Amino acid sequence: MEQPGAHSESAHATATMDEEGDGASGPFFPSSAQVAGGGKIPSKYFMESEVCERCHKDIYEQWKGSAHHFSSFNNQWYRKSIEYMQDVAGTKPSKWCGGCHDPAVLYSGLMDTPIKQMVHRPEAQAGLGCMMCHSIVQVKSTMGQGDFLLEYPKLHELASSPNPAMRWLHDFIVDLNPEPHRRIFLKPFMRSQTAEFCSACHKVHLDKPVNHYRWIRGFNEYDNWQASGVSGQGARSFYYPAKAQQCADCHMPLESSEERGNVNGYVHSHRFPAANTAVPTANEDSEQLQATEEFLKNKNLTVDIFAVSPARATDQRASAQADVNTTFAVGEEAEVKTTANAAGEAAPVTAPLNRVLPALRRGDDVRVDVVVRTKKVGHFFPGGNR
Ligand code: HEC
Ligand code: HEC
Ligand code: HEC
Ligand code: HEC
Ligand code: HEC
Repeated sequence: MEQPGAHSESAHATATMDEEGDGASGPFFPSSAQVAGGGKIPSKYFMESEVCERCHKDIYEQWKGSAHHFSSFNNQWYRKSIEYMQDVAGTKPSKWCGGCHDPAVLYSGLMDTPIKQMVHRPEAQAGLGCMMCHSIVQVKSTMGQGDFLLEYPKLHELASSPNPAMRWLHDFIVDLNPEPHRRIFLKPFMRSQTAEFCSACHKVHLDKPVNHYRWIRGFNEYDNWQASGVSGQGARSFYYPAKAQQCADCHMPLESSEERGNVNGYVHSHRFPAANTAVPTANEDSEQLQATEEFLKNKNLTVDIFAVSPARATDQRASAQADVNTTFAVGEEAEVKTTANAAGEAAPVTAPLNRVLPALRRGDDVRVDVVVRTKKVGHFFPGGNR
């Protein structure tokens, strides 16, 4: 962020990464995450999703196979990345990753120790459990980076007590009047502003404290969702679906369930299906794999091979890139310059290919225009870090 003419979005956010979260001397820096009251949270708290299983069995089973469960050192791709990063950059920069991937390790203070020394400890295998998401009481901005506030509810100590009588008491109280329980674990914004909630982890930027180099945008599902027609908020969209869709409308489809907390016989699936088939394959989890494959094969995209024309010397990646990205107002995508070569005369084109057959000879150089249209994707395709 320090170089002149830096990215516009970063310019009107904070001046440097040092001003994010608790600042450079904060316990979780360079992650932007904060804990209410400024303390730490015992790792045990993030490792007790089984407490919730007692009454939320279906959601627990779905979550168990999800990428969120396998976000930490129980994910071999992730483990290798952190081990390598700590070897070359040290442990402190890797706390940035921990804000989104390893709550039981980071928020308890364990991440100051090199991970190789504790990779098999249960804290490092816990992933993003129920408490991670359901203890976020505020999302401070849509900058991403784990820019949320966590709160540690006292009621929980009763729920997870090793004393069966205390556990019984907890369950009795919750069943008698679930209202306080509901208010603790589901803040209204999780439903009404789901995309902003997800943005806290599904949008990243790197900066000097992480990469010892400069500001770079990482993946970002939020801004291009927000700028598209899907959100109902994008001013430049040329198409608006009948109803705006939040992240959960696609990634948390309703599944029938009779468990406590169901809404009219349904719960939001906590499998969070999307593109990751590697993790369920490695886990030999056929149910999660099947849910992901079905999600991906659900007519999400059309690929239309539309036209052919003779190849031109000026067909360069840069101009194609500019065409593709012009509808996005936010992010570095908006700053790709349109190249001058578009000013020339129109080239002969054979189209549409389902009606006119082009004459092509072996050895010809031709340009093929392909239109990829996202039908049920709420953001760029491909998205994320794939
Ligand atoms: C003793 C059984 C019990 C346990 C244990 C339990 N819950 Fe619940 N939960 C309930 C009941 C009952 C409801 C309310 C159902 C209703 O009123 O619709 C509920 C509702 C919820 C809701 C939805 C709130 C809303 O406004 O719709 C969330 C979120 C939730 N629980 C999360 C959790 C988490 C996280 C845990 C683990 C710490 C947990 N629950 C443990 C019984 C339980
Ligand atoms: C606390 C941080 C955090 C929050 C909040 C969060 N996620 Fe995630 N999410 C992650 C991480 C980390 C992964 C990747 C885990 C892995 O594979 O290592 C992930 C993975 C996913 C995946 C699977 C991606 C794939 O390639 O298959 C989906 C879908 C997803 N999240 C959607 C959501 C949605 C929707 C929300 C909001 C309701 C949300 N997430 C909230 C951190 C978070
Ligand atoms: C990645 C974040 C994330 C994780 C991890 C997570 N939840 Fe949720 N949960 C949500 C969101 C977001 C909603 C609200 C979805 C909506 O209404 O659009 C929700 C809703 C719920 C509800 C209300 C019923 C429903 O389906 O809307 C219950 C109960 C619940 N979660 C329990 C759990 C339990 C139990 C776990 C752990 C096994 C868990 N959650 C893990 C994000 C998460
Ligand atoms: C209209 C439905 C829809 C909406 C809304 C939507 N997504 Fe997706 N998402 C998809 C589909 C379909 C895929 C699989 C194709 C792909 O990888 O892009 C996907 C893929 C993903 C992936 C995996 C990307 C990859 O290739 O690794 C993540 C992460 C994700 N979405 C997060 C989000 C978040 C966060 C939001 C809200 C800001 C969101 N999605 C909104 C449909 C949607
Ligand atoms: C702001 C939150 C955030 C931060 C910080 C973050 N990640 Fe992630 N990471 C995610 C999300 C969300 C995904 C899932 C994206 C997707 O599936 O497309 C992910 C996916 C991954 C994956 C792929 C895992 C898989 O199952 O395929 C690896 C590896 C990974 N991150 C490593 C790291 C490392 C190493 C760092 C620190 C240098 C880091 N991440 C920092 C949120 C974050």
